[in-house]
Amino acid sequence: MLIIDVITLFPEVIEAGTRYSIVGRAMERGLVAIRLVQLRDFATDKHRTVDDEPYGGGAGLVMKPEPIFRAVEYCLQTASAAEATPERAARIILLEPQGKLYTQALARELAQESHLILICGHYEGVDARVREHLATDTISIGDFVLTGGELPTLIIIDSVVRLLPGAIHSPESLQQDSFSDGLLGYPQYTRPEEFRGWRVPPVLLSGNHGAIARWRRREQLRLTRMLRPDLFARAYLTKQDVELLKELSEDEVQR
Ligand SMILES: C[S@@+](CC[C@H](N)C(=O)[O-])C[C@H]1O[C@@H](n2cnc3c(N)ncnc32)[C@H](O)[C@@H]1O
Repeated sequence: MLIIDVITLFPEVIEAGTRYSIVGRAMERGLVAIRLVQLRDFATDKHRTVDDEPYGGGAGLVMKPEPIFRAVEYCLQTASAAEATPERAARIILLEPQGKLYTQALARELAQESHLILICGHYEGVDARVREHLATDTISIGDFVLTGGELPTLIIIDSVVRLLPGAIHSPESLQQDSFSDGLLGYPQYTRPEEFRGWRVPPVLLSGNHGAIARWRRREQLRLTRMLRPDLFARAYLTKQDVELLKELSEDEVQR
């Protein structure tokens, strides 16, 4: 079982975001335990202070290191005391806009672990000693700034939990997902066959599984090249992919 500890000032946000759907069911089935840790409980003064003014001056408040270190130590001790003793060292993840960009590859890596500790920042961020001396990873979910680490944490939990064995009904669908093989996913259609004059591509109705697989792969290549040239440049292409790309170029010339 994967243990995910979330250190936060707003546990109710994480609770609301994990109660339903695949993550909620994975918790019920015992595939994952999500433990909410209120950072304020680890403050050392009677006012339960978790933030202070930045050294060197400037606007806003910075989250103090002591409560965060104490909360992480609590998570490590209680997880190893629990029945499901983690086989490996915990990944201690600080959410920060300066972190490594979160990707599906990182989600796959985290889904192999047995204990994740996610630290949600707020205000102007977290005392840098947390990143320097406590966190094993610093992760950003994109080049934008949110008010707190709770939404990034929910994104990580959701993307990791759906990869756990037994979390989703048809695990083969994971292989069809965008990014699973370095390309975007292919377009999907369902009934009706014709909607407001727009028809489903005829090959999908042909019953010819080989032709369908080729069409889907071709669409993956076409869309990735068009929409995400950065991904396309890094993608591993097979001999068949190169042939499909040639076909695509010929079609484009004919049009
Ligand atoms: C207002 S932000 C702090 C921004 C910080 N002053 C900066 O410019 O990098 C407060 C907290 O939200 C979270 N956060 C905001 N944007 C994020 C992102 N793109 N990825 C991950 N966490 C983020 C982090 O936990 C951060 O400590």
